[in-house]
Amino acid sequence: MMNTLRLQFRFLVPLVLTLVAAAYLALPLLDSVTLRWFSRDLTLRGALVTNTLSDSLAAALQEGGDLRLQGLFIRAVQDERLVAVGLCKLNGELLQRSAAYPMDLGCAHARELFAEVVPKLPLAGGMVHVGVHPVMVEGSHQADLVLLHDLSFVERRSQDTQKYLIAFMAALGVIIALITVVVAQLSWRGWVSGARALLRGEGLVTPLLNQRELAPLAADFRERLRDLEDAYRRSLDREDHWDPERLRALLRSQLRGDELIVVSNREPYIHEKGDGGVVCKRPASGLVTAVEPVMRACSGTWIAHGSGGADRQVVDRQDRVMVPPGSDEYTLRRIWLTPEEEQGYYYGFANEGLWPLCHVAHVRPVFRESDWEAYRRVNERFADAVVAEARSEDPVVLVQDYHFALLPALIRKRLPRATILTFWHIPWPNPESFGICPWRNELLEGLLGSTIIGFHTRFHCKNFMETVDRNLEARIEVEHSTITSNKQTTLVESYPISIAWPDEAERAAWPSVADCRSAVRSRLGLPADHKLAVGVDRFDYTKGILERIHAVERMLEKHPDWVGRFSLLQVAAPSRSELDEYKLFQQRIRQVTERVNTRFGRPGCLAVYLLAEHHEHAAVNELYRAADVCVVTSLHDGMNLVCKEFIAARDDEQGVLLLSRFAGAAAELTEALIVNPYHVEESADALLKAITMPAPEQRERMGNLRITVRDYNVFRWAGRMLADAARWRLRERIEARMQRPSHD
Ligand code: F6P
Repeated sequence: MMNTLRLQFRFLVPLVLTLVAAAYLALPLLDSVTLRWFSRDLTLRGALVTNTLSDSLAAALQEGGDLRLQGLFIRAVQDERLVAVGLCKLNGELLQRSAAYPMDLGCAHARELFAEVVPKLPLAGGMVHVGVHPVMVEGSHQADLVLLHDLSFVERRSQDTQKYLIAFMAALGVIIALITVVVAQLSWRGWVSGARALLRGEGLVTPLLNQRELAPLAADFRERLRDLEDAYRRSLDREDHWDPERLRALLRSQLRGDELIVVSNREPYIHEKGDGGVVCKRPASGLVTAVEPVMRACSGTWIAHGSGGADRQVVDRQDRVMVPPGSDEYTLRRIWLTPEEEQGYYYGFANEGLWPLCHVAHVRPVFRESDWEAYRRVNERFADAVVAEARSEDPVVLVQDYHFALLPALIRKRLPRATILTFWHIPWPNPESFGICPWRNELLEGLLGSTIIGFHTRFHCKNFMETVDRNLEARIEVEHSTITSNKQTTLVESYPISIAWPDEAERAAWPSVADCRSAVRSRLGLPADHKLAVGVDRFDYTKGILERIHAVERMLEKHPDWVGRFSLLQVAAPSRSELDEYKLFQQRIRQVTERVNTRFGRPGCLAVYLLAEHHEHAAVNELYRAADVCVVTSLHDGMNLVCKEFIAARDDEQGVLLLSRFAGAAAELTEALIVNPYHVEESADALLKAITMPAPEQRERMGNLRITVRDYNVFRWAGRMLADAARWRLRERIEARMQRPSHD
């Protein structure tokens, strides 16, 4: 407010000054105009005086009486304005003059002056007006009367006028200033609130614009405003912009091109036996979605469990295969596990023990001694593989996830100079929850072999540090976020994971949103305007699939007008299906889906479409682009990348994200409709809000979400971790140098 006022005054003071200056400049013009007016008046007055005196003058001329003429002149100049009078014969001889008449003003000169626009003459320190008027007697021109009128009153009046004009202009300036300030204030406020209303899509600026005929114009205006705003946002400097090139540069400069080794359970490419031979698939895994683009940018070796039916067919003698198929950008080293190992380490300890332990999803963790043994053995086998793949003594090893809690310490023992970055992709629970694990200390000690341990959120870091504090003898420096145990210092930091933002070429290959919408709807036999929400998840009890179906059911219960006009399309990629908990969960979902469809399905239209099969990325992308809403209702999730993929897919800036507050992504994606999935009423209402959200609001929310995901991409995630690692390595090298004995 103060700023606006200051701005307006900065404009108004010059306005007042300009008006006064203009008045000054106009004064000479004003003088000359008024002088002409007065001169014309005096000429008229002179003619009148001459007419009045004509008869007396004619008589005096006939009589030849100079005295009579003198008497006449003396009476005439008693008029305060008339200074002098002279009488000229027609031959130019000055016949008679009053006392003040200048000696040197002959008749010819007087006539010359009278021919000028303003006939004037200096006389006795002032100016006089010279008038020459014919004396007519019975229609005949007898002589000319020369009248000299005082002009000093013109000057006096002109000075008065100047004063009044300047005062008037100054007053006018002040009045304009005040009116402008008031009007500007009122109209600025009105404009701002009008523009805000427009942008909110709530209404239009004035009742006039509310008229239906002007609605297209208003919509167009709104569009333009948004386009401008978007262009502005996009044009802002992206100083912290991360892309594959910057990540590669960081590796080259800060890590001296050191070797990068990634270890994860899930492999980035799975080879399966298909009808026409071997087919290569990308698994449904947030970890793979995030880490794969990083590996493509940095190259190196990825060590993972070879779980595909045709995996062995495509590897070389060292169990390596170059991937991605066709572009061979990095090496995939496969580790083969026996069914017993897979059962104990993966299904047992990792997914029946640690998975429910870390996710608050109210499924009881199961801890078996045999699973723990298998877990330890498999971690050792992966440690062997890391040592075998390392070409130097100090590789950079990225250990991924809860399958490898023991691996960091095992690598540290064999490669003490390695930089080990461990990223925990799932939540870390509070110390009480973690405390029920019989092997909690071994897990913590294993993890503290890392140089850096990363979590998605600060909250998970805090939980981890408190868990260490509760269970181990370790020095914890909360301020620096470090833990020192067994002479090894570990940095505990949050690095919110993300996806690679699709580049131009990738986006250009996508079918249009309109094509995706009609393709998906026609596959389901639905009309073009049918509202569609999509859910894309692994078939996992932590994803809140049951809760979202309940929300759909409740929404249709509360708003029956949407029955037959809205559906949820749920993709659920089968996952960990060997486990009872997962089998039971899948059964339950199928039953609930059936029940809801019985209640709210209509001929040719189901309320819930459950597609319990793996979908490749292109198919998922088509669903994202076809959807009106993307539903992510995890009961607990480290980050959740489905929501970020949905946002990246919506280059039309339409579509609504409904997001669980228990997903790590909720902290970043604040423009989503955030819900508590346990609260069915809240989720149902949010669903209705999502399918009825006006396009401008969708655009505003989606536009902001897209900027967040674009800027906070996976290269930034990896880059921040690697930059921290580089700093750490440098510090360790300096410390080692300082501790070396001196040879002086
Ligand atoms: O998102 C968490 C996560 O554990 C990933 O780290 C993992 O790749 C994904 O779930 C899929 O699980 P799985 O590899 O057991 O199918």
